[in-house]
Amino acid sequence: MPYYRAVGEIPRKRHTQFRKPDGGLYAEELMGIEGFAAESALLYHQGLPTAIVDIEPWERPEQRTQPNHPLRPRHFRTHKLDQGGPADVVTGRRLLLANGDVRISYAVADAASPLYRNAVGDECVYVESGWATVETVFGTLEVGQGDYVVLPQSTTHRWVPNAAEADHSTTPLRALVVEARGHIGAPKRYLTARGQFNEFAPYCERDLRAPQAPHRATGEDVEVLVRHPRGDTRLTYATHPFDVVGWDGCLYPYAFNIADFEPITGRLHQPPPVHQTFAGPNFVICSFVPRKFDYHPQSVPAPYNHANTDSDELLFYVGGDFMSRKGAGIELGSMSLHPSGFTHGPQPGSVEASLGKEDTDELAVMIDTFAPLEIGDSALGCEDASYAWSWSGRRRKSGQSSG
Ligand SMILES: [Fe+2]
Repeated sequence: MPYYRAVGEIPRKRHTQFRKPDGGLYAEELMGIEGFAAESALLYHQGLPTAIVDIEPWERPEQRTQPNHPLRPRHFRTHKLDQGGPADVVTGRRLLLANGDVRISYAVADAASPLYRNAVGDECVYVESGWATVETVFGTLEVGQGDYVVLPQSTTHRWVPNAAEADHSTTPLRALVVEARGHIGAPKRYLTARGQFNEFAPYCERDLRAPQAPHRATGEDVEVLVRHPRGDTRLTYATHPFDVVGWDGCLYPYAFNIADFEPITGRLHQPPPVHQTFAGPNFVICSFVPRKFDYHPQSVPAPYNHANTDSDELLFYVGGDFMSRKGAGIELGSMSLHPSGFTHGPQPGSVEASLGKEDTDELAVMIDTFAPLEIGDSALGCEDASYAWSWSGRRRKSGQSSG
């Protein structure tokens, strides 16, 4: 995030005395990535951000994964994962897919989450439906359907569903959670040498929403759940972590709505990288948004069959009509996994049906990983086992179980 912001009260010069109305000093915190050699923020706390009074393991049920073996394309129906009891965006995550670089989970939330901090890497949460306030140590973000919410590593925050739009309290907060082992940001090719979004980029600084003011809360002995590579921990702080009076810098949480992604179109079918929205370590996130189709007189709007030889492709279908997947059982909330080593493409008949079509209203989020994804128990629990045969239109030749 190359975009400098200053929020709330800060002293004129960094690392100088900054006093409270009672004469005491605010506690300055430098939060920086890559050994303080890259982006950072300076935050000014009322209390000490270091003062802990208890440490316990954060025990949570193990969510197992297994290799995608034997190799097969897959289709998961995430809306079957609705939970019965109260759930929140942090502890209610259902792990769908994972590898050493990224964990992809789904959460249906109706309760406020605990305070939480991910020390493994950045998180990008896509809000499929519903509304929430994301309270962070930097301030709040009001988020809703279609928002990508990017939370830098070790940002203390919590998710409060529906706080932004009480009228919509019946709409569940559905979230796709991408947890990186590292940092998530704009692709380098969208940025100038000095970090500004360039004119070729499909979105720019004006499309990003960041906290506008500090968010203050009071309390003593406040728990924060910390996700860490070596195991999860429950830290208790003497005073509430949301005690920042001001901050500045280039490291902070922000939201970007998929409707603000301006599609790049052409006379002929554009390759998948034109849809790229974010880059993470060994993965990318792309947005397929409503757009004009190709305008060459002989163009074929449906995608060609393709072998993305270095990547597993995960596509999450969140809106519109997926013309190219007609007959595959794809519906809203569906998630398809087309792994490397498998050539995939439109379902039979889709290419002919696409000819002459001028636009599409499809809306989807794609995550391509450069290492194979393992499949989580939750994904297996909502899998459409017949998907692999949707191109041939036949049942499994060996006549074994439908899987
Ligand atoms: Fe693909």
